Amino acid sequence: MGKSKKRSARGLYVLLLLAVLLLLGAGVMLLLRQTQPAPAPLPVVETAPPSIPAVTTAAAETTAAAVTTAAADTADTTAAPVLPPGSVTGLRLSFYHAVMYLGDPGIMPVVFLEPEDAADKRERWESSDPSVAAVDESGKITAVSEGRCIIRCSSVSNPSAAAEVIVTVEPVPEMRTTPAMSTPSSTTHTVTVDETRKDISVIGGITYVQGVMIVNKTYPLPESYNPGGLIPEAAEAFSEMREAASAEGIYLFSHSDFRSHWSQAAIYSNYVYRDGIDGADRYSARAGYSEHQTGMVIDVNWPGEAFNGTAEADWLEQNCWKYGYIIRYPRDKEDSTGYKYESWHIRYVGREWAREITESGLSMEEYFNVPSVYPAA
Ligand code: DAL
Ligand code: ZN
Repeated sequence: MGKSKKRSARGLYVLLLLAVLLLLGAGVMLLLRQTQPAPAPLPVVETAPPSIPAVTTAAAETTAAAVTTAAADTADTTAAPVLPPGSVTGLRLSFYHAVMYLGDPGIMPVVFLEPEDAADKRERWESSDPSVAAVDESGKITAVSEGRCIIRCSSVSNPSAAAEVIVTVEPVPEMRTTPAMSTPSSTTHTVTVDETRKDISVIGGITYVQGVMIVNKTYPLPESYNPGGLIPEAAEAFSEMREAASAEGIYLFSHSDFRSHWSQAAIYSNYVYRDGIDGADRYSARAGYSEHQTGMVIDVNWPGEAFNGTAEADWLEQNCWKYGYIIRYPRDKEDSTGYKYESWHIRYVGREWAREITESGLSMEEYFNVPSVYPAA
């Protein structure tokens, strides 16, 4: 074989070798591609409508923040389910926290329903721990034992419309020993009455003017005076008044009525702690000097300035006299009564007196010409 023939045979081998190597490489690539994992599928976009917010019954786990925003949450209509016409869509309460003392009379939050003209206004009240605070079907909360629990109010027509009150029950506090409390806060003195007043009598430590029991900063009640609740005549008159109001679309209820001497002592001492004695004396009676101890007084719906000017307050002012009650601390009468205007505090005096006193436009003190000033310490 010649030299040139040998060279061309070697070139052919090299070419063949390269072709084999290329084929092998392509095969390996193909194999590798087949063993790659499949690409992840595209995420599925949820198109289901948002569900109705779950109503938790584990009330004790609810935080204060959750409770205070409960009203706003329930008023959120973006996630509102389709409800039958007339259903409640939102529910708010007049307060979301309460500190109660053992032995206190019950408290009752005012419920505001949305819309106001909802056909089905039924409420459901539940306590997370009735051994701490119980609640009745009308929303009256009663302290049972020391502790903390949640009172929940929901709409029967729409249970997702709900709100909660955190209730803390504490033992009756010791009378605080702030300097302010060194002023007499309970009745230790005898009632002094102007001798010339033939129309005033004191029987068993209780003062009557023209036969009407009078209790104010001048005329206290004995510590032991305790009718144990609203006197039956006043209770009956109130229930008659409630019915009449309700027929006119006005919802009235007793937020609190009778308070014992010591229940009042606890309340007053806390107000003194908060506002000082001069501040507290303008709106809260010292123990022994509160009309609530008579069992003839009701704080209607919600005692507080927010109640002034409401339809309920206006109705009371115009109509309570027909049932034997007067607005005991009328507006602009602090100089005579000793207390700021309280549109919610009504006093039972009987129908005749109620009509006369109301028609006169005078406060009870002005009408009977009696003072209301605490005795000097
Ligand atoms: N708020 C009234 C004056 C009372 O404490 O009896
Ligand atoms: Zn009152």
